[in-house]
Amino acid sequence: MIEIQSITARETLPVRHKILRKGRSLKDCHFAGDELGTTFHLGAFEKEKVVGVATFLMNKDTQLESIEDIKLHYCYQLRGMAVLETAQGKGVGKKLITRAEKLLKERFIKALWFNARILAVPFYEKMGYQIASDIFEIPSVGDHYKMIKLL
Ligand SMILES: CC(C)(COP(=O)(O)OP(=O)(O)OC[C@H]1O[C@@H](n2cnc3c(N)ncnc32)[C@H](O)[C@@H]1OP(=O)(O)O)[C@@H](O)C(=O)NCCC(=O)NCCS
Repeated sequence: MIEIQSITARETLPVRHKILRKGRSLKDCHFAGDELGTTFHLGAFEKEKVVGVATFLMNKDTQLESIEDIKLHYCYQLRGMAVLETAQGKGVGKKLITRAEKLLKERFIKALWFNARILAVPFYEKMGYQIASDIFEIPSVGDHYKMIKLL
């Protein structure tokens, strides 16, 4: 059984490291804004173990036309979405996103956007997100699209 709970930035690090920053230093696993009061982190627990993580930061991308008229305070960015390999494809990612959308709507947040790795795009499309940019490269991470959903 998978349970979604609020976790600290520190608790996200082992999964971020294994899945998103494999072979790199642990200090590369911290994100600017991780500790801000407006930021929250979710963990997916299988028994006592964190098998999936995601981080949500108040942030607006001014290049995204669909949120041009929405104030910064109503925009959130998803970062560090990752599920351990052994737990992938079992609905963990879907549970994390579903819970996050519920929490964001409760905070009157209007839009969730992020930079999506190419391989993850079909997952996000299933969750109702749309591609909102041309393909672009994030150095040492790879090719991405911006994706967005109005909540
Ligand atoms: C992308 C990721 C977060 C998805 O999480 P997950 O727990 O494996 O996905 P789920 O099992 O919740 O999948 C939900 C739905 O999306 C589909 N899906 C998931 N990954 C998919 C993929 N790569 N291609 C097509 N469909 C996919 C599932 O089949 C499922 O569909 P269903 O609801 O019809 O059954 C996870 O695989 C992961 O951590 N990947 C590596 C790191 C990464 O790319 N992170 C994203 C950075 S932007």
